[in-house]
Amino acid sequence: MTRKVRFKNGVEVPALGMGTWNMGDDVSLRSDEIASLQAGLDAGLRVIDTADMKEVEQTSQGESCVANQVLYSLSHRGIEFDLLAEDHDRQVVTMAYSPLGQGGGMLKDNVLAKIAQKHSTSLGPAKPAQIALAWVLRQSSLIAIPKAGSKKHLLENIAAQEIRLTDDDLAALDKAFPPPKKKVPLEVI
Ligand SMILES: NC(=O)c1ccc[n+]([C@@H]2O[C@H](COP(=O)([O-])OP(=O)(O)OC[C@H]3O[C@@H](n4cnc5c(N)ncnc54)[C@H](OP(=O)(O)O)[C@@H]3O)[C@@H](O)[C@H]2O)c1
Repeated sequence: MTRKVRFKNGVEVPALGMGTWNMGDDVSLRSDEIASLQAGLDAGLRVIDTADMKEVEQTSQGESCVANQVLYSLSHRGIEFDLLAEDHDRQVVTMAYSPLGQGGGMLKDNVLAKIAQKHSTSLGPAKPAQIALAWVLRQSSLIAIPKAGSKKHLLENIAAQEIRLTDDDLAALDKAFPPPKKKVPLEVI
């Protein structure tokens, strides 16, 4: 287990969490999913899922809200325009959901594959998904909650924390997945 993120109430949690959305829907996947979650818990992962920031803030408990869960991945960078900084200013930790682009086309991008060839982890040569996750986790106050339906993916995601992207890697990713140039509505899935 590597980096931790500190909430404004002083609590510290691992920067890698676990998403569970849609888990349990398919009975045939159940034992793999449970094994994955168990492996994560055994490895010390402690952040599991979700809350609605804006509505919580409107309640009398709003001040006690310490995290803002939003869509954030290479394919969905809208929050970089101002929300990330706003969270930071309010000492609210940003929690990235769907950080792997839901395992879809984003992970097949050539740039991710090329960058993966330059890196490795304790599990071996890096994979595109690990680069995508390392990119989300590059920022010190950010938590990511990738969903892993197998222990193999879960362990790869933990190992992704070993990857340090270079300035050249980040520039190549900016070119392939451009950051926002203006304010955009909060994207959701
Ligand atoms: N607040 C909200 O509105 C909201 C909305 C959407 C999601 N969420 C939360 O965010 C969590 C994660 O989001 P998500 O499930 O939409 O998308 P995601 O985490 O970006 O992607 C999950 C997909 O990536 C695959 N994957 C995981 N680790 C991988 C690896 N190492 N290599 C290759 N593929 C890998 C998974 O496959 P396997 O299953 O085969 O491992 C799955 O298909 C959800 O579980 C949910 O808790 C919140």
